[in-house]
Amino acid sequence: MRIFEIFLFLNEMMRKIFSIPVKFTAFIALYLWWAELPAQQIRMWVPSDTRDYYYQLQESGAQMKAVDLFDAQKPSLNDAVVQFNGGCTAGLISGQGLLLTNHHCGYGAIQSHSTLEHNYVKDGFWAGTLDDELPNPGMYVTFVRAIYDVTDKVLQGVSDDMDEASRQSHIDKNINRLKRTLPKKSWQEITVKPAFYGNKYYAYVTETYKDIRLVGAPPSAIGKFGADTDNWMWPRHSGDFSLFRIYADRNNRPAEYSKDNVPYHPEKYFQVSTEGVSRRDLIIVYGFPGRTREYLPAFRVRQITGRINPVRIGIRERALRVMDGFMHTNDTIKLKYTALYARIANYWKKWKGENLGIRRSDALANKEYWEQLTEKELAKQGKADEYREVKTALENTFRDLEPVEIARNVFIEAGYLNNPWMQRAFAVYEMERGLQKGGADAFEREAAKTARSMEADFQKGDRRVNKALFAAMTDVLKEKMPRGFLPEVWSGTAADDIVKAWDQSFLTDAAKMKKLLSGDFKHFENALKNDSGYKMARALINGFYGKINPEYHKRMEQVQTLMRKYVRLQMQAFPRMHFAPDANGTLRVSFGRVEGYEPRDGVYYEPFSTLDGVIEKYIPGDYEFDLPKALLDIYEHKDYGKWEVNGTVPVNFLGTAHTTGGNSGSPVLNAKGELVGLNFDRVWEGTMSDLYYDPAICRNIMVDVRYILFIMDKLGHATRLLDEINLENHQQ
Ligand code: ARG
Ligand code: ASP
Repeated sequence: MRIFEIFLFLNEMMRKIFSIPVKFTAFIALYLWWAELPAQQIRMWVPSDTRDYYYQLQESGAQMKAVDLFDAQKPSLNDAVVQFNGGCTAGLISGQGLLLTNHHCGYGAIQSHSTLEHNYVKDGFWAGTLDDELPNPGMYVTFVRAIYDVTDKVLQGVSDDMDEASRQSHIDKNINRLKRTLPKKSWQEITVKPAFYGNKYYAYVTETYKDIRLVGAPPSAIGKFGADTDNWMWPRHSGDFSLFRIYADRNNRPAEYSKDNVPYHPEKYFQVSTEGVSRRDLIIVYGFPGRTREYLPAFRVRQITGRINPVRIGIRERALRVMDGFMHTNDTIKLKYTALYARIANYWKKWKGENLGIRRSDALANKEYWEQLTEKELAKQGKADEYREVKTALENTFRDLEPVEIARNVFIEAGYLNNPWMQRAFAVYEMERGLQKGGADAFEREAAKTARSMEADFQKGDRRVNKALFAAMTDVLKEKMPRGFLPEVWSGTAADDIVKAWDQSFLTDAAKMKKLLSGDFKHFENALKNDSGYKMARALINGFYGKINPEYHKRMEQVQTLMRKYVRLQMQAFPRMHFAPDANGTLRVSFGRVEGYEPRDGVYYEPFSTLDGVIEKYIPGDYEFDLPKALLDIYEHKDYGKWEVNGTVPVNFLGTAHTTGGNSGSPVLNAKGELVGLNFDRVWEGTMSDLYYDPAICRNIMVDVRYILFIMDKLGHATRLLDEINLENHQQ
């Protein structure tokens, strides 16, 4: 497993070799191998840095070039990928703006159009004509048209001895100047983002379209088959996809929703291939990974998994247990809390897998080893002392950060995410702050709006569940909040009395809330002053904004400064190595192969799943594993048509591409650059890839595009859409 040793040896050799003008193919092969090795660490390349992944692409058997993936001069595949509604990815699959993304990415939209008569969540939705496609106010997608490395311009005049504040204001000035001078069309925008903790900067020329309509979705029994039980797991059998369409104005430009808008005509879209994939085939995932932290020292990874994750996991576990108790016995409650439950369970499960994976992959030892090698290399350049200094300072800063970081997590988890009553209090708090300036006039404007959202909030939840959650989270706040961070009214009041006070608060009483918001301003002000539940909420939130958050950010700033130096030293230690920056929500491309894995000793997971496996998991009436009758009928009659492969239908497959949250909905391409799959998840054992990528157990999970087409065809009878998608190798 000491792959870095081999790497170091090769590194040395290459340096010698390249100073001698010999061109042995063997050496070139070695070089290629070497060029690929660094990808063991992080594999999400900035598409415009084609030199960083050029060799990897060549070596991998791709039948295309880096410029096919990204070309700043002319339309290339990046023009077929969008960031979907801020948090996911989607790919264009037709010349009329048809977008493919995940069911879990489109879920909010699908739900918002669902009624009891038209339950698109339950039954699925297939727009028969363009006129049937459903607009989604607020939804948007963003293209990245060009990427520039603007490091030199942004860091111009910035020196190492500047303090952070003047450094930042210098950088801000440079960025503002840059934004004015970079070429862009009037409907485009420019954002500049740091990479490698500020050692590099990239400028992105983007286009945001705002008229995005729902076109199709399978029944959720298919779209989220396996729900929470199967989430982050393999074997998987989910048809996690939905379809949307970008609409543009008459000039094909971005525009607010209008019924006069027309389907967008893209510069590029993905050719869909029904050829399928085989073991060891190249896959390319093109998308917008959200956040990774691969460059942290072992010390910090130990802290995250040993001290931070357990706090978050423990809090969520309690919330889930509370909800479970109600959801098991009451169907109405189950329906109301499914979405919240799924949201909480998602990262609860992820962090548990992360901790396991860090242990299983020996990440701490490997990282420590890497640190030794780095120091050894830097010693040759006389920089070992500097490295040790930065590392020690980092460790001290992380140690100081810990209590406030835990306080922040306890607040966010127990005081907000897992606590619907506190969320309601937050909304009132926001309103109160808004009124401080606007007074009675603002109240007139705001009250009706808040009243509406409050009414929806009361209807959406169940008082018993919210109260039980509140009680559990009150215990958590009292037990887990580090000393000095919990306001007096909370620490000094018994948990029972806190719950009692809230029980009588307008915050937990729909009628009182309504009366208050339809009354006058004086009344409202008085209630806020005297309601003891709200006073507690205010104290808690003030404690967060006034103390926890500023202290956290102050320390995080120190971390940023030190990490910038730490990462720079790593890069200086290995000057020929190709480094990819941590994910930061920008466009990336990552390469992998179709590959199974060993989750445990003695167990090997095949990388493919099929419709037969879907049926094996079928549990009639179950909320996670029920299936639509239509699918059972199709299975019964083996009515697979042209989607049949070896007597069944392919469903999901695994790959070694390095992905993270935000990659959901990413198009997955084969060696020819054709779309063969749709990324939607990772395997549980490998969720530590956000901190440490281990090719042995990190796998991304994709829907086989043939399953998507099969569902559209046989279940959705969506002929219009299938005709629209340009199908290569149409097997008929
Ligand atoms: N684990 C996947 C991701 O992080 C899927 C989440 C959606 N599914 C769910 N059961 N919450 O987004
Ligand atoms: N499910 C994630 C997403 O929604 C993807 C992942 O974390 O692998 O982006």
